[in-house]
Amino acid sequence: MTGRCWTAALLALLAAPLGAQQGGVSATPHNLSASGPGEIKSTEETQVCKFCHVPHDATENTPLWGHALSKVASYSVPDVVRGQGRRQPAPQPDGASRLCLSCHDGTVALGDVGRAGAIRMSGAQRLERGRKGYLGTDLSGSHPVSIELPEGDASRADAGRDMGLRPVHEIRNEGLVKLDAQGKMQCTTCHDPHADRYHDPGRVPRFWVRPTVGEVCLACHELR
Ligand code: HEC
Ligand code: HEC
Ligand code: HEC
Ligand code: HEC
Repeated sequence: MTGRCWTAALLALLAAPLGAQQGGVSATPHNLSASGPGEIKSTEETQVCKFCHVPHDATENTPLWGHALSKVASYSVPDVVRGQGRRQPAPQPDGASRLCLSCHDGTVALGDVGRAGAIRMSGAQRLERGRKGYLGTDLSGSHPVSIELPEGDASRADAGRDMGLRPVHEIRNEGLVKLDAQGKMQCTTCHDPHADRYHDPGRVPRFWVRPTVGEVCLACHELR
């Protein structure tokens, strides 16, 4: 969908009656409203979407983002390999990944919904070290994000690596995982912030986009 088109869809959803709005999110730890099932939730706020989206005065227009963004300018990122084993740092998080990090880097209060105000929380005011949801600002031990998938398949020539990358057109055509409009993988390639259908403790992580872990990894990688 184009940015404009789904902005319109989002506006329609935010304007819909409360019951219709809540969809899959309400049953997940991303429901931070008073009806939320998780340990962290508001004592008073009843709107589920408000923690991330606002219908007016958005901090970012797509996807009508409401939550205050993190001010962290530089995260520690993992190295990626390009061409014949040349290592370089992955890009800094951008796009949807930056939206996730507005809560998950632990620097911004969960109830800080920018111009829409400050919502008081119970359980925790922000994600802190030791919490399941805490990633912090050192992402060097995590999968690279905000990275454009190479058009061809340079990696196939590099026999020194364990995991090859499939050509990007194959990944797109299959559509098992989502790349953003710039062809980058983001947190949302592996996690769907709106639905936690497949979670299976010890097997399938929360907010996973496919029924199994393997389906996601093998959408892009080939083992050899
Ligand atoms: C915990 C944060 C969070 C909550 C709560 C949340 N969203 Fe989102 N939403 C996101 C993120 C992040 C994106 C961007 C996804 C992307 O770019 O792939 C998004 C994108 C969207 C989009 C654009 C289409 C898409 O899926 O990319 C729509 C529509 C949407 N949200 C509707 C809602 C509605 C309606 C609610 C309340 C029921 C809601 N969201 C609650 C985080 C959230
Ligand atoms: C408004 C704040 C907020 C935003 C934005 C947000 N999350 Fe979360 N997320 C939370 C909270 C709170 C929890 C519960 C964490 C806890 O209990 O430690 C959570 C839990 C999770 C978990 C489960 C952790 C576990 O194993 O229990 C995952 C995975 C996750 N979020 C991914 C994402 C991704 C990916 C995005 C962006 C697409 C995102 N979140 C955006 C607040 C947010
Ligand atoms: C390549 C797929 C992939 C991408 C991309 C990805 N994750 Fe995850 N995530 C996982 C897996 C797999 C787990 C399960 C725990 C593990 O094995 O580390 C996980 C676990 C988590 C957890 C639970 C805490 C933990 O470390 O176990 C959170 C929170 C989370 N992810 C958020 C994010 C955010 C935010 C982003 C973007 C900055 C992101 N993830 C990008 C695959 C991914
Ligand atoms: C959307 C495609 C995509 C998905 C899905 C994906 N990856 Fe990756 N992965 C990449 C890209 C791109 C790189 C960076 C490759 C490079 O170094 O240039 C990478 C790098 C890696 C690396 C580092 C390899 C190296 O040679 O440096 C590991 C390990 C890895 N991924 C594991 C996983 C696992 C495990 C999963 C599933 C949980 C997964 N990936 C899902 C695209 C993906």
